[in-house]
Amino acid sequence: MSETKAAAGYTAAVITVSDKGAAGAREDTGGPLVCSMLEEAGYRIVHTEIVPDEQPLIEAALARCADEMDIALVAATGGTGFSPRDVTPEATAAVCERLTPGIPEAMRAASLKVTNRAMLSRMAAGIRGGSLIINLPGHPKAIRENLEAVLPALAHGLEMLRGPQQDHDPA
Ligand code: MTE
Repeated sequence: MSETKAAAGYTAAVITVSDKGAAGAREDTGGPLVCSMLEEAGYRIVHTEIVPDEQPLIEAALARCADEMDIALVAATGGTGFSPRDVTPEATAAVCERLTPGIPEAMRAASLKVTNRAMLSRMAAGIRGGSLIINLPGHPKAIRENLEAVLPALAHGLEMLRGPQQDHDPA
């Protein structure tokens, strides 16, 4: 089975973290791009949401995806930089039971070949229950470069976490 096909049947959620997006003051371009890349890789998007850069709200959105919806892959885009309101990594670390540092390490390693500003990304990733939660930057170009670097390997991680994918994943 190809690595792309391996994701078939796994559910995914995309959480856009953006003050302006949540207020309706800016069109969300990052979230739809993450959705289309995940769908192309074989994931089934079952939930999308835009939340402001407020740590408790981000934590609640991530925890809901894991605890109530049991979504296999939860991707949060935005809020990973240095500006004072960028707290997506802190929210992610707070809700995860086990961190998976290799995923953001791989994204930063790939991105450093494109721009030395990749070192400014504070992305985190980890596991809560049966859900893998990852962070992505907010800008479409950076999203593409980061997600492409890890997407082929994620389905194997989900298979270890959840068992082989089922075409009728109920979430
Ligand atoms: N990674 C890639 N591949 N390409 C980029 O252009 N931009 C960097 C970094 N990672 C970038 C990247 C920059 S400038 C920042 S501030 C961080 O991602 C955080 O992005 P965010 O603030 O959109 O979350």
